Amino acid sequence: MSDLTLGKRSSIGDDLAYLRAAHPQPGWRGHTNFGQLADFWLHVHASLRAEAAAIDTTVKALLGGRLDPAGFQRRFVPELNRFLQHLDAHHRIEDHAYFPKFRALDPRMAAGFDLLDGDHHTIHAALVANADAARTLLAALGGSGAPDRAAADYAARTDALLGLLHRHLADEEDLVIPAMLEHGERSLA
Ligand SMILES: [Fe+2]
Ligand SMILES: [Fe+2]
Repeated sequence: MSDLTLGKRSSIGDDLAYLRAAHPQPGWRGHTNFGQLADFWLHVHASLRAEAAAIDTTVKALLGGRLDPAGFQRRFVPELNRFLQHLDAHHRIEDHAYFPKFRALDPRMAAGFDLLDGDHHTIHAALVANADAARTLLAALGGSGAPDRAAADYAARTDALLGLLHRHLADEEDLVIPAMLEHGERSLA
């Protein structure tokens, strides 16, 4: 059996995403049950991807010498704070408000939402490590440490976090959007 741990898997199977074949992604927005909640969910995920990409761009600009330390700090600190707060708030709502409602729709949902719940723990640990590396980088740019090594370390941690995040968001969408289309959004109200 393949390892489905986040960071090891490259997809989830139809046993977990058992509604995906009936509701494939190209037809989501045209489905009669596609409503505000599904639209909002996809919008939040798109925002998280964009916020993560902005951080990656800023770090690469520092590494490439296109941003000086002061310019980097001005851009990076608010970008990172916004992303960390947004992602944390989103996972909290999913864990406490929405995932229990999806589980209640059908007992077959349980395995998929156990996986997503585990993903959140993995991502949280990567976020903590990322914030630690960011503090080390900012301190190094301020004169206490080796800035080049700290920047390379931070960039590597960001790459790892983005890999986890993209896999999680895509797999979550394959579970939640088909379920909303199948059962209707009112079943989650
Ligand atoms: Fe999630
Ligand atoms: Fe999500």
